Amino acid sequence: MTTPQPRPSVAAMPAYVAGKPPAERPGLVTYKLSSNENPYPPLDGVLDVAAEAAGRVNRYPDAGNTELYDALAQAYDVPAEELALSTGAVALIFQLISAYCGPDDEVVFAWRSFEAYPIAVLAAGATAVKVPVTASGEHDLEAMAAAITERTKVVFVCSPNNPTGTSVTQTELDAFLAKVPEHVLVVVDEAYAEFVRMDDAIDGIATYRSRSNVVVLRTFSKAYGLAGFRVGYAFAPAPIAATLRAMALPFGVNVVAQATAVASLERQAELLARVDDLITERTRVVEGVRAAGWDIPDAQGNFVWFAFDSAERCEEFAAAADEAGLMVRPYPPEGVRVSIGEPEANTRFIELMGRFSRG
Ligand SMILES: Cc1ncc(COP(=O)(O)O)c(C=O)c1O
Repeated sequence: MTTPQPRPSVAAMPAYVAGKPPAERPGLVTYKLSSNENPYPPLDGVLDVAAEAAGRVNRYPDAGNTELYDALAQAYDVPAEELALSTGAVALIFQLISAYCGPDDEVVFAWRSFEAYPIAVLAAGATAVKVPVTASGEHDLEAMAAAITERTKVVFVCSPNNPTGTSVTQTELDAFLAKVPEHVLVVVDEAYAEFVRMDDAIDGIATYRSRSNVVVLRTFSKAYGLAGFRVGYAFAPAPIAATLRAMALPFGVNVVAQATAVASLERQAELLARVDDLITERTRVVEGVRAAGWDIPDAQGNFVWFAFDSAERCEEFAAAADEAGLMVRPYPPEGVRVSIGEPEANTRFIELMGRFSRG
């Protein structure tokens, strides 16, 4: 008997490795710091809306996501035709690569960066061109510009970069965009945009508006704490946004997710105040571990990055955290990413870094 075989590039796709939940430790509250999630539970009002919407799940969702498009258009003062919604920013990444790339095409991105990029590239049968990040975890934009060939169709700029945490400045992005030919699509992945606190931060909306080849990705998963509902969106020039919408699975963003995302935008101020709290915690963690002697890169997302030089050190660190009731995310051999969590989790993490050998 023979079994039908997928395309070779599909068979070569690595599995997406999700952050693990913490192991149970009797007598110890354990914490998940492995998926860059928002540790705050949904606001009561948001939960009420979700519960009400759940009462309508015998019906299909509004296929046009009208309410949510309108709410986003109003919140960001952009025309609805320059928006594309999908089941998480990750779905938009797949839609985008499958729409713009095929076999023989190249997609340039920094590495390490978000691990869905190479998977989406292989799913489309295209070729990933990985440009190493610098020693301090930053995009090497000069090398990325130099990596663009006549086969390049898409370039990702992930800012803040998952997992290294560093951000590109607007000046750096503008200089980079000036070098990219207009027929190459530049995706500025701003999944963590709301967490950025730096001078000369990227203005994603102004950037996509001033170019014909820039897409900006955002999500409700991180700052808005709705990772479980799966809603992401893109800002893009109208023809690109239309292509992304055309590539979406019909009815992807479900009834409850649509209603909850709208309710979250109505409570944007309250939710973004929680982001401020997470940034206060991020500062405490960064200062705490640096005071303990760790040299870590700038952290502009809701996570911090520890670069190591071997898989063994990454695993040793992850095991020590696990032992302390903290599940972190190792990326052997390059390093370990630790999400900013509940204050107790962060305190325990800072203590751990005070005693974990710096090798
Ligand atoms: C850089 C980056 N982009 C996109 C995503 C996808 O977000 P979601 O699919 O939850 O909207 C993530 C999630 O971790 C991410 O880190």
